Amino acid sequence: MKADSMNNKKIYLKSFGCQMNAFDTEMIGALLTEENNNRITGDPQDADIIIVNTCSIRKHAETRAINHLHKLSRINNAVLAVCGCMAQRMGIELKKIVPGIDIISGPDNYKQLVSILSGNLDEISNTILLERKHDTTYKLPVRCNEEQFRPSKFLSITRGCENYCTYCIVPYLRGDLRSKAPDIVISEINRMHISGVREVTLLGQNVMAYQYGDVDFTSLVELILDKTGIDRIRFLTTHPKDITMELFHIMAANSRVCNHIHLPLQSGSNRILKLMGRKYTREDYISSVEEARKIVPDLAITTDIIVGFPTEDESDFEKTMELIEYIRFDSAFTFKYSPREGTSAYRMDDNVSVDTKKKRLERLNKRVKEIRYDIFSKLNGRKFKILLDGRTKKGKNQYIKGRTTHFRNVKVNKSSLKEGEFINVKLKKLEGFTFIGEEI
Ligand code: SAH
Ligand code: SF4
Ligand code: F3S
Repeated sequence: MKADSMNNKKIYLKSFGCQMNAFDTEMIGALLTEENNNRITGDPQDADIIIVNTCSIRKHAETRAINHLHKLSRINNAVLAVCGCMAQRMGIELKKIVPGIDIISGPDNYKQLVSILSGNLDEISNTILLERKHDTTYKLPVRCNEEQFRPSKFLSITRGCENYCTYCIVPYLRGDLRSKAPDIVISEINRMHISGVREVTLLGQNVMAYQYGDVDFTSLVELILDKTGIDRIRFLTTHPKDITMELFHIMAANSRVCNHIHLPLQSGSNRILKLMGRKYTREDYISSVEEARKIVPDLAITTDIIVGFPTEDESDFEKTMELIEYIRFDSAFTFKYSPREGTSAYRMDDNVSVDTKKKRLERLNKRVKEIRYDIFSKLNGRKFKILLDGRTKKGKNQYIKGRTTHFRNVKVNKSSLKEGEFINVKLKKLEGFTFIGEEI
């Protein structure tokens, strides 16, 4: 069916950046297809509207988004909307780089963006939506996007961040921390659950900083356990300064709360942590992990690490290497420091050479991988419950895949199984970092 100016529009969505962006992208798509006869398409050539949600966290993230925008802007007749953090940061400048852009929208303006895209597309040209609003009523649309059904879904429970880590652009682009009302969170999870969702990942740049009236993060988790039937709860990201042991007691007492925490370390050197403005020391980090592991012995911990922050020397870097040996992370996202204009670290001399950053990153990645392999290979033969959440193919074999409570991937070669089911598996062997499991 061909789009008239108001109805039957085909929408292509592309999301860069973090899980919060993925959630926003899905929300925009769902809002646009809630009414009218609009639908999502996987093919940008076929689209009437192309929406690209962008990220500014590192230079590289912006370069990728801009390259992609150049390609998409060559598609004639589609309205090209750019939203998210890079749209907020660059604003009208973006149009000088990619002239084909029709709409630029920051993360606080999605209601307006949706309303404009729901109207007559012929009337859209040069629309800039960058006003900072402190809206907390951003709700999931009534109809969750059935075409993109997955048994595991994200749900942002906070927006923004006011930690101002010295290297980070996020607070400047996403604004101050705002928490979503607990009754909205509960009703959204209930609605997801009714539509077949089994697992929800609560999202926030610092999810544990959630605070709405008297309700803090742990009481929100307790409310969700009590007032919804959702089978599994995950959450990310947790800032080490906000961590409370109460949460691990809830985790230990309740198998619905997954035994995994994403706890970004950033650096193992106290001097660098201080320059980063992270507000914890390596000793604080170690003692939180030790205490948490006493409460939840098989807790899986993943992390983020930056190498080459201004003035990081060999001894600082060795402290990071020491700490990864001691903590033994399940996995780590590792990054070379990337100066972001406007942050306070931008005023510091980016004095670690490109070559040194590269070498440190390689050394770190190698060891992270070896430790990961060591942790994983010791798990062969053990039994776990997994939630089946997708399918993959290898050669002639069709696999259904799922995750353990620890967020570890398992593939099972049995075609009768369906996404959304929980099954018990015995881990047989490792292929890369995915387990091959057998249903028991
Ligand atoms: N809110 C989360 C992180 C969000 S950004 C937290 O505080 O942990 C995801 C990761 O990107 C960060 O944890 C950090 O490791 C990395 N990052 C952020 N700014 C960066 C920069 N300027 N250069 C390199 N990595 C950066
Ligand atoms: Fe950025 Fe720090 Fe906020 Fe994370 S906590 S989003 S690193 S400012
Ligand atoms: Fe990127 Fe913005 Fe997320 S900068 S990491 S998309 S909050």
